[in-house]
Amino acid sequence: MSKPKIRKAVFPAAGLGTRFLPATKAIPKEMLPVVDKPIIQYGVEEAIAAGCEQIIIVTGRGKTVIEDHFDISVELESQLESRGKTDLLAMARHISNLGRVAYIRQKEAMGLGHAVLMARDLVGDEPFAVILPDDVIDAPTPCLKQMIEVFEDVQCSILATQVVEGPGISAYGVIDGQPLESNPRVLEVRGLVEKPKPAAAPSKNAIIGRYILTPRIFELLEKTPLGAGGELQLTDGIKALLEHERVCGYSFEGTRYDAGDKLGFLKATVEFALQREDLGEAFRQWLHDLPALSN
Ligand code: G1P
Repeated sequence: MSKPKIRKAVFPAAGLGTRFLPATKAIPKEMLPVVDKPIIQYGVEEAIAAGCEQIIIVTGRGKTVIEDHFDISVELESQLESRGKTDLLAMARHISNLGRVAYIRQKEAMGLGHAVLMARDLVGDEPFAVILPDDVIDAPTPCLKQMIEVFEDVQCSILATQVVEGPGISAYGVIDGQPLESNPRVLEVRGLVEKPKPAAAPSKNAIIGRYILTPRIFELLEKTPLGAGGELQLTDGIKALLEHERVCGYSFEGTRYDAGDKLGFLKATVEFALQREDLGEAFRQWLHDLPALSN
């Protein structure tokens, strides 16, 4: 039997974005631009670069501009075409050609596990990826692509991790894992806990917003009781999965920015702007000359 491929990527995008108020009062946080590209587009491009064919976005009320963003804009395209703006036209077409995108509504904000469960019928009986759009990752090889390479080897669920020092660990799901001898970036997961108090964290290995999950997660999430924050936690579902199947952590290569947080968003903006061919040099010079930085 041929090994299963990761063809579908689920994007939970129904959250209210309260960490970014007032900007997110009327605009979905997924549409905030880092430089000139909405946060969610970074994740969608990563999924496509990793070989995914179908994008499944779990949305909620007030999120229809996400659908418009990935749709064809006939008016915009015809204007750009008639004005001979070929570069911009190619950019607009690139966005609407980014794979097949399906949407499903999460009617109540009941947690990440609940959001993933919404995608059950669209995913079906195959392993799939989950990308949390807040986490924008800058990596030489797209993070999800790295994970798929590991998946091809281990054939089990994989959680991307990064080391978080200090009390900040309490904002994450945390794994207890043992590095594999054959590849120390891969951790054999023995346990995991959602948002532990710092003293109760089993390690410094925090789960970040990239997962590859086997479809068994759905039946387990159905039975998982509400956890931290009174929400259905994906981490709790994965803990149940661990009783039936192997689960691995993966310490990815690259830098992750929590762009759903104001400071993380600013860091991502600066780093991505500096890397841009059209902006980087002028921006670097401006930063360098900033009087506020020389004091
Ligand atoms: C979610 C997950 C958590 C994970 C984090 C990564 O938490 O529940 O396990 O560590 O994403 O960003 P949230 O940030 O939605 O509170």
